Amino acid sequence: MTLARITSYAEADEILTSRRFAQESKHESAPLVGGTVLVMDGPAHLRRRRLLAPLMSRTALAAYDDVVARTLDECIRAQGDDLVPLGRSVFLQLAASMIGLGDLGARTPRLLALLGPLLEAVTVEWSTRDHAVVLAEGLAARDALVTQFPALPGAAGTLATLMAGRPDEWDDEAAVREVVLFLAASTLNNAALLVHVVDELSRRPVPDDVLPAALAETLRLYPPTVALLRRALTDVTLRDGRLVRAGEHVAVDLHAANRDPAVFGADAEEFRPGRAVAERARPWGLTFGSGPHLCLGRAVVTGTAVTPGVHLRILARLRELGVRPDPDRPPVFAPTAQRRHDSYPVLLASSENRGA
Ligand code: HEM
Repeated sequence: MTLARITSYAEADEILTSRRFAQESKHESAPLVGGTVLVMDGPAHLRRRRLLAPLMSRTALAAYDDVVARTLDECIRAQGDDLVPLGRSVFLQLAASMIGLGDLGARTPRLLALLGPLLEAVTVEWSTRDHAVVLAEGLAARDALVTQFPALPGAAGTLATLMAGRPDEWDDEAAVREVVLFLAASTLNNAALLVHVVDELSRRPVPDDVLPAALAETLRLYPPTVALLRRALTDVTLRDGRLVRAGEHVAVDLHAANRDPAVFGADAEEFRPGRAVAERARPWGLTFGSGPHLCLGRAVVTGTAVTPGVHLRILARLRELGVRPDPDRPPVFAPTAQRRHDSYPVLLASSENRGA
């Protein structure tokens, strides 16, 4: 199999937006997320996206923000010494409300324990551990999730209710996989982003009014998913003349494309919030993908004209508490080719401030 690596922003964007390339990112993790919106293509994919759109309505986004506002201090009290479990537990509350698992409360540690192996298995393609072991652990966690965390029947506006109303689209197995995708999508990358932004700001502090731009700049420099795979469905000649043959696979390198000087300037490798970017680009580059598979949850992260995005709320609270890396406990990277941590210990100014 030939695998061309795509590093220019223009080529990356053209491939991701083209319907002449198919999704190829998730073969090994198919037992967990096969058949979900992430891996579908063509008209069936479009139909699935439309069905899922209500989960990102303006009302839904406001509700997720409320959940984070209500549960943040408790998560900080329980997990405030390490940004990885903290980020995961905050976004678990959001995911649980989106999926329809109800208020997690005291059930949070139990779900957190299942989340670790699930997240590793959903991204097994990138794991540096034995892939068969990672998948087996993930499938065991998934089985425990199904038995221990049933969706609340009839809870309005949730993924579970939406799927229950469309048995023609989701049978039981497909519904469990979609839940696993949403659980992973709303926790994994968000926890990674929280670590990267606190880490970056600890080295290059910015005033509060620059935080939205600092978040976007962190997203650009550290895309949690470093590459997306696609397969050409026909011979495709890209606008710059590059020919990709039918059947050829391409790895769209988001990390490289997001540092393309043609779009982000000669100092594209630098952390410079608020930088000017080429007209066609977003400040976070291709971190949320582009085209048909563009991240469904982007507005949760970056906000909209009416909601600021949950990260700003979390960051603002952590900054109030004086968050900084713990000099005595070094961060631990996860066993994966993605740039992600298993642990990022921090200190907060004082435990009384944690809202306990
Ligand atoms: C920092 C946070 C996030 C990042 C960096 C991120 C990144 C991405 C990327 C790169 C894709 C495209 C995958 C591809 O083209 O193959 C994607 C798709 C997706 N994301 Fe996100 N995501 C984030 C947060 C979220 C959240 C909070 C949700 C909420 C549930 C979410 C749900 C999804 C879904 C459902 C898809 C599949 C869409 C489709 O294939 O049509 N993501 N995400």
